[in-house]
Amino acid sequence: MKTTVIVGTQWGDEGKGRICDYLAGQADYIVRYQGGNNAGHTVVVGTKTFKLHLIPSGILHPGKLSIMADGTLVDPRVLAAELDGLQAEGIDTSGLRISGAAHVIMPYHPVIDQLEEERRGAGKIGTTARGVGPAYADKAARTGIRVYDLLNPDVLRKRVAGALEAKNVLFAQLYGAKPMDPDAVCDEVLAVVPKLAPYVADTRRMLVEAADTDARVLLEGAQATFLDLDYGTYPNVTSSHPVSGGACLGTGISPTALDEVIGVVKAYATRVGSGPFPTELEDRLGDSLRERGHEYGTTTGRPRRCGWLDAVMVRTAARINGLTSLAVTKIDVLDHADPIRICVGYEARGETLRSVPSDVSVFEACTPVYEELPGWCCDTSGVRRLADVPANTRAFLDRIGELAGVPVRFASFGPERTQLVDLAP
Ligand code: GDP
Ligand code: IMO
Ligand code: MG
Repeated sequence: MKTTVIVGTQWGDEGKGRICDYLAGQADYIVRYQGGNNAGHTVVVGTKTFKLHLIPSGILHPGKLSIMADGTLVDPRVLAAELDGLQAEGIDTSGLRISGAAHVIMPYHPVIDQLEEERRGAGKIGTTARGVGPAYADKAARTGIRVYDLLNPDVLRKRVAGALEAKNVLFAQLYGAKPMDPDAVCDEVLAVVPKLAPYVADTRRMLVEAADTDARVLLEGAQATFLDLDYGTYPNVTSSHPVSGGACLGTGISPTALDEVIGVVKAYATRVGSGPFPTELEDRLGDSLRERGHEYGTTTGRPRRCGWLDAVMVRTAARINGLTSLAVTKIDVLDHADPIRICVGYEARGETLRSVPSDVSVFEACTPVYEELPGWCCDTSGVRRLADVPANTRAFLDRIGELAGVPVRFASFGPERTQLVDLAP
């Protein structure tokens, strides 16, 4: 087996979907290993734009297996709608496989997500309100529902009744909300199960068996290193493990079987939701990055916070994930920026830091130390070959590679499939 993991090195929306789409042509299996429909992966093919939330980006390549593995979360209603949308565009979805062991986002999870956010008030996380945190919490509490349970209505009804016993007390007494009827909840979910059932499989067995073959497996991370439950800016994180280690936890592929780990880096930084962001630009420059980069959430439409590239984060992500190369995206968005800044260190409480501290209160106190590079001041959206990359752009990419300690392998100059250059000699 040959495996490549794609991970976000920042706070998500780095362009993982488009990199995955680019590499999917050379893979046999494309696998999502964590997260749910909090993800929004945009892939532009010609004049068509696909916004994928659950189904791996490999689905746009016919003849591949696109797997939602054990560590993902499945919202049956959202998945059914996503399948309908792709089929309406003429996409062949027969290669989809959904792990029976994946946990399910039940109708009560998004409700709890929203009620909890309201309860947090000013301290809210700014979640996507898709029920991801509550569903993973149920998984850890062992009150979760798995895809296998959807295929067995008696088991489903029993487990949902058990789960709702406690939740209905919370609805009534903590949130002042209406209780939910277990049978009505099950009926709602079961209504879409016939559409999903043909795709359910023992994907763990498939991948364990693939380990002894020459299958090429592409693992598509969602979210990013600094949204990881452990490695992110807790509590402003998601509830899964987007880091490369999560690719093993979420699939049944062993750590020693990971061959390549590609870190996707946006040429600047963005963040949706709350939490520290040392290089954030709350000025006209930040606004211009948002407008030029169309930085509005794929999932929620919220404006993304924007700032300069933070190479300290990328370097830290390189170590945590064992990155073997980088893919730098949205370089074209900086076409008119001059000079361009890169954060190369932090000043915090009298110390200079070269990696991201685990104490979020220290991270919040960090002042970025910047290095300035000259801009290239020309339109790069037409770059298709290494020879077309302007010298200053090349210097910018080389500097990112140096600071991260990992070479830049791919450079993206636009959202469309062809606007990507493989820098390998
Ligand atoms: P993901 O969540 O990491 O897959 O990223 P998103 O799809 O949420 O956000 C990336 C956005 O940038 C999408 O709208 C992409 O179409 C777009 N995009 C990706 N690469 C490039 C690029 O190199 N240049 C420009 N201008 N847009 C890009
Ligand atoms: P992709 O895969 C950017 C953020 C939310 C919030 C925090 C927790 O498209 O890069 P959650 O709903 O997961 O409990 O929210 O994480 N977040 C993302 N931000 N891209 C994503 O996914 C995200 N998924 C979650 O905005 O701050
Ligand atoms: Mg996204």
